[in-house]
Amino acid sequence: MTVSRTRMSAQGPEVSKLIAGYWRLKNWGMTPQQVLGFIEQSLEMGITTVDHAMVYNSEQPFGEALALDSAIREKLEIVTKCGIRPCGFGELGAKAVNHYDSSAAAIQQSVDASLNKLGTEYIDVLLIHRPDFLMNANEVAEKFLQLKQAGKVRYFGVSNFTTDQFELLQKAVKALIPEGLVTNQIEFSPLYMEPLENGLLDQCARHGVAPMLWSCLGGGRLMTPNDERSQRLHDALRIVADECNLSDIEPVVYAWALTLPGNALPLLGTSKIERVKVAVQAANLTLNREQWYRIWEASTGHAVP
Ligand SMILES: NC(=O)c1ccc[n+]([C@@H]2O[C@H](COP(=O)([O-])OP(=O)(O)OC[C@H]3O[C@@H](n4cnc5c(N)ncnc54)[C@H](OP(=O)(O)O)[C@@H]3O)[C@@H](O)[C@H]2O)c1
Repeated sequence: MTVSRTRMSAQGPEVSKLIAGYWRLKNWGMTPQQVLGFIEQSLEMGITTVDHAMVYNSEQPFGEALALDSAIREKLEIVTKCGIRPCGFGELGAKAVNHYDSSAAAIQQSVDASLNKLGTEYIDVLLIHRPDFLMNANEVAEKFLQLKQAGKVRYFGVSNFTTDQFELLQKAVKALIPEGLVTNQIEFSPLYMEPLENGLLDQCARHGVAPMLWSCLGGGRLMTPNDERSQRLHDALRIVADECNLSDIEPVVYAWALTLPGNALPLLGTSKIERVKVAVQAANLTLNREQWYRIWEASTGHAVP
C-alpha cells in the first residue's frame, strides 16, 4: 500500500500525503545505515517528504544517512525549520536565554547550517518554526527571496503561526514571491482540536495552502491513554477500527485528520517502520461523518449542540 501525492498549494511543491517527522530521531539510537534503511522503506510506501528543524538536532544524523547513497536526496522533499534559538546556540554562548529570531541574519545562518548538516545543496521547504514577536515581515520576505534566488530554498512556509501572523507574513511574501507561503504546520489531533474553531484550518483553505499537522497521536498519548479523556478517545477509535476491520487504531486517527477539507498533511513521528506500515493503511480508509463526529464527541465529552 502506498500513499498518494499532492501539492502544498497551487504553485507549491509536490509532497506525499503522509510525511515522516524526524523530531525524535536523535533518541532513536540508529546507525546511519539504519536511518537510511528507514528512509528507503518509507520511500517504498510513497512517503517522500521528511520534516526536520534546526532545533531537533536531526539534520546531522539524517545527512549522515543520505551520504551513504548519493541518489537518495533527489527522491525526497526535505522540510526544515529555522527561527528558534535555544540557550547556548552559536556565538551567543551559554548566557543567552531561549528565544526566537527571524532576522535576516539568523535565517541565513540557520539555512547555511541546515544545508551543511544535511549535506544537500537545497532545502525544499523552509518554515519559520514559531512566531517571533519581534518579526519584521518585510525583512523575512526579502531574505526568503534572496534564498530562493540563490537556489538554497525552493519554497517557504511557517509553523505555529496564528491566523493574523500568517496573514501578515503572507502579504509581505506574496509581494515578492508569487506562490507565497505554502503551508502552516500546526498541532492537530483528537486530543487537540482547536484549529477546527480558531480559524487556522479555514485560513489555510482560503489561501489554498495545505496545513501540515503535527503530533496527530498526541505524542503517543492516544496509544497509551493515562487519563479519562484519552481513554474515552482510545475506546471510540477502537470501535471505528473494528467497524473498518482494522486491527490498529492509528490508521483511523490519520484518516480522521485526512477527512478535513483543505488537503491536510499529517506528520508521522514513529521510529518503528512497522508502525509506519500500519499508518499507511489510512490511505485506503474513508470515514463517514457519523464516525468522524463520534471521535469529535469522544474528545469533547459531549454531543454536538
Ligand atoms: N512544528 C512544530 O512545532 C512541531 C512540534 C512537534 C512535532 N512536530 C513534527 O511532527 C512530527 C510528529 O510529531 P510527534 O512525534 O509528536 O508525533 P506523534 O505521532 O503524535 O507521536 C509520536 C510518538 O508516539 C509514539 N507512538 C506511536 N505509535 C505508538 C504506539 N502504537 N504505542 C505507543 N507509542 C506509540 C512514538 O513512539 P515509537 O517511536 O516507539 O513508535 C513516538 O514517541 C515530529 O517528528 C516533527 O517532525 C512539529
